[in-house]
Amino acid sequence: MESLGTLFDRFGSDKNTWHSYGTFYDDLFPDRQANSILEIGVHSGASLRAWAAGFPSAQVYGIDVNPNAMLVGEERITTFCASVLDAGSLEVIGHERGPFELIVDDGSHRVVEMLHAWYSLEPFLSEGGVYVIEDISGELDLRLLLRAIPESRCVDLRSRKNQWDDLLLVVGR
Ligand SMILES: C[S@@+](CC[C@H](N)C(=O)[O-])C[C@H]1O[C@@H](n2cnc3c(N)ncnc32)[C@H](O)[C@@H]1O
Repeated sequence: MESLGTLFDRFGSDKNTWHSYGTFYDDLFPDRQANSILEIGVHSGASLRAWAAGFPSAQVYGIDVNPNAMLVGEERITTFCASVLDAGSLEVIGHERGPFELIVDDGSHRVVEMLHAWYSLEPFLSEGGVYVIEDISGELDLRLLLRAIPESRCVDLRSRKNQWDDLLLVVGR
């Protein structure tokens, strides 16, 4: 079984080059058992392709505000054009495609948008599922998020590659 870090690298995501998230996700899902993964932030589609390759039973969903980021005709990958600030659209996506075992927020990295996404999508996190907010920009943002989401914890990977935004907020597991 290929590591998720290897897959992120192969498909061109920065989750394991700039960031140090490969082993973090490997440890979260050692058996790669997930049927449904949702990521906010499609961009070129790199991480969605890595999820699909690494989780052979999973349907992979992506949300992006940019219509040019939509992926078409890729097996087990479905993308939606919506902003996380549009609670109505997120609710429709959650009802139609949820619940999700893994939700990853790799969108704008602005706290207000992270919280909008959390409040809209948390009801669609499956029992035992994990919600991960990536690339938190320092201590102030971290404190705001920890206060707003008391059940969350911080995973600080900044020392691994000396990257200032290698900070994750995690709910679940
Ligand atoms: C860092 S990129 C995602 C990279 C991708 N997850 C990967 O690892 O390959 C961030 C994406 O978030 C999207 N984005 C920014 N603000 C957003 C919003 N309010 N709602 C949804 N997507 C947003 C951007 O259009 C951009 O494509």
